[in-house]
Amino acid sequence: MAAKQKILVVTGTGTGVGKTVLSGLLVRRLVRLGRTVRAFKPLCSGGRGDARVLEAALNGSQTLEDINPWHFEASLSPALAARLERRVVTLQEVVAHVRRHSDQVEQTLVEGAGGLLSPLTADGDTRDLIVRLRAVPLIVASNRLGVIHDVRATLGCLPPSLRSSVPVVLMAPASADTSTVRNARSLSEYHPADRIVEIPRVSEAIQSGVGSPSVALNRKLDQILRLLAI
Ligand SMILES: Nc1ncnc2c1ncn2[C@@H]1O[C@H](COP(=O)(O)OP(=O)(O)OP(=O)(O)O)[C@@H](O)[C@H]1O
Ligand SMILES: [Mg+2]
Repeated sequence: MAAKQKILVVTGTGTGVGKTVLSGLLVRRLVRLGRTVRAFKPLCSGGRGDARVLEAALNGSQTLEDINPWHFEASLSPALAARLERRVVTLQEVVAHVRRHSDQVEQTLVEGAGGLLSPLTADGDTRDLIVRLRAVPLIVASNRLGVIHDVRATLGCLPPSLRSSVPVVLMAPASADTSTVRNARSLSEYHPADRIVEIPRVSEAIQSGVGSPSVALNRKLDQILRLLAI
């Protein structure tokens, strides 16, 4: 692994909050900035769409099998979906895969599954993976009513040493509610304001790389990368 490389683990308050959208944007941004990148969605369940998003963002520099070595049929947490197929994946296998395949690159991004505490492997969750990889986490949440609770609960479950520095990214929901414009400010009563970033709706074209992100969106992505010190 390249000297001093920090592994980024993209986790969140739950499923469907925008982890993959943000991961794809960050990977594309790093590639655009000329950085060597590896990305992983080590465990997929109910389809490999997330891994394919990363594969596309990486411009073919990494195979689908390498991005996503373990995949299961059922739309359940990976740990439960694996159990239905009588398969066992351990944290150690995931850690070994990520470490082995991120050798020599400047940046590595790993997308968890579901939320921080969702069952990931037979013996652990994304929090355990963060600890085992000595990774820097990033929390993604959907910017809608209830997000203050969801983010505070997730922050509270992070190892204390990582809590205050973790970036929190609020992803714009398909339809905003009354709380959407207020959530970042409300959250700043509990978490440093400069570590909370709001990402607007991003078109399919930009998500897929057909269109280019605006200057404003790139600024936000660069802000997140700075917060992660990568
Ligand atoms: N900022 C955004 N702009 C446009 N669409 C978004 C945005 N954030 C999330 N979405 C949409 O919301 C849905 C869920 O997002 P995404 O797949 O990134 O969530 P996830 O947290 O990765 O989910 P999972 O737990 O299944 O991995 C997708 O249809 C995605 O395109
Ligand atoms: Mg995802």
